[in-house]
Amino acid sequence: MSGLPPMAGQHPLLELRDVSFVRSGRVLLDRSNLALAPQGRTVVIGPNGAGKSLLMRLAHGLLEPSTGAIVCRCNGSAAPRQAMVFQRPVLLRRSTIANVTHALALSGVPRRLRRGQAERALARFGLADLAQRPARILSGGEQQRLALARAWALEPEILFLDEPSSALDPAATKAVEDAVNVFHDKGTRIVMTTHDLGQARRLADEVVFMCGGRILEHSPASSFFDAPATGAAATFLRGELVLDPHEPATLPATRR
Ligand SMILES: Nc1ncnc2c1ncn2[C@@H]1O[C@H](COP(=O)(O)OP(=O)(O)O)[C@@H](O)[C@H]1O
Ligand SMILES: [Mg+2]
Repeated sequence: MSGLPPMAGQHPLLELRDVSFVRSGRVLLDRSNLALAPQGRTVVIGPNGAGKSLLMRLAHGLLEPSTGAIVCRCNGSAAPRQAMVFQRPVLLRRSTIANVTHALALSGVPRRLRRGQAERALARFGLADLAQRPARILSGGEQQRLALARAWALEPEILFLDEPSSALDPAATKAVEDAVNVFHDKGTRIVMTTHDLGQARRLADEVVFMCGGRILEHSPASSFFDAPATGAAATFLRGELVLDPHEPATLPATRR
């Protein structure tokens, strides 16, 4: 792996050590190492099928690695406060505010505190007036803001976002990007994926570039965008198709 940014003696907040993920004999993530400093916005980019979502799910603990270890030093505690926002939010068939109070209940917040915390989180993301609406009838942009408000109420130390605005129009995308910065300003560690290079340039402090189940680069955003270290990243940044180095470049000749 090339271009690891110096950690300047800091303990990483989150570390992947030789993490692999294998299914049905396919190596979907190949002995990956990644150390994330306590602060900043990391944007994971790469072609479709590179393993970005897989990396996020492993890091958030939704999947178990086949080999290797994921080490989180959040607050020195064994159960770090983490949240994840997906391309399409998973919402309960309840009111908007109940989606937040339910998440607070699951994370162990006492009942008497839940309503106030949920109301503040909804207000923070412009949803105060929609608190009693069924969550399922909100627009796509409102649902995503609800997912962000729900995450906000949990006060996560790390927030993972997997293509959080891919299904949204420009105005709702702007709201998601503003929200990412609101979390960042509050000190939440951001790890997100996007297929939108403009968004990556707007938000990234550092870039993780993946291809074919491998982390090929991890570097500060400016050096990545100005001078990517790998041919695959340069090809990707030019908007050209990146051929997976593990796949044969041409189809095998048909047997006669
Ligand atoms: N839980 C899983 N079980 C089996 N295969 C998976 C699983 N998750 C992802 N994959 C496969 O791993 C590869 C990488 O997927 P993904 O991480 O979703 O790519 P990306 O998000 O970069 O587009 C794909 O070939 C996908 O089909
Ligand atoms: Mg994905």
